[in-house]
Amino acid sequence: MKLTPTLLLLFLSSFATSNSLSFFSSNQQVLDENHKVPGDNPLEFCDKSDDYILTINNVDLEPNPPLPGKTLTIEAKGNFTKKVEEGAYLVLVVKYGLIRLINQQADLCEQMKSAVDEDCPLIGEKTITKDVDLPREIPPGHYTVFADVYTKDHVKITCLTATVKF
Ligand SMILES: *[C@@H]1O[C@H](CO)[C@@H](O)[C@H](O)[C@H]1NC(C)=O
Repeated sequence: MKLTPTLLLLFLSSFATSNSLSFFSSNQQVLDENHKVPGDNPLEFCDKSDDYILTINNVDLEPNPPLPGKTLTIEAKGNFTKKVEEGAYLVLVVKYGLIRLINQQADLCEQMKSAVDEDCPLIGEKTITKDVDLPREIPPGHYTVFADVYTKDHVKITCLTATVKF
């Protein structure tokens, strides 16, 4: 299954933005009760995001939802409110319908370096933009991704989930 890098990037998109929208998205964050991540995206926080180390200001996907065979552009903006050092990790689960396709742990610093050229320690405001070429042939169905991110001491950085229908 070739989807791993793409879905990882979907998750990493949690760090990005379009400045023009940040006014609206901060309002949306206050009003929204079902944990939606601000911006034009299918992401939700897994639970109350108040205690997360990463504050996500905005994530925009173009196109949203992503389309097979198209380039997906991700813009994300967030703030690491505490220093995130080497040893941070993410647990990624991808399901296709009820089938668990992927269940793996990855090193956050390595992923950030290779995907968006950001070095650890991660601290303060980060804006990323990333283009991802989606494969033309993605088996149709509902894909659900969970990304749970922790420091090396297992303090929660963020937790995101999204369901995308191809
Ligand atoms: C990022 O978080 C730090 C720590 O909470 C805060 O002092 C800073 O103002 C924040 N930066 C932005 C741009 O929101």
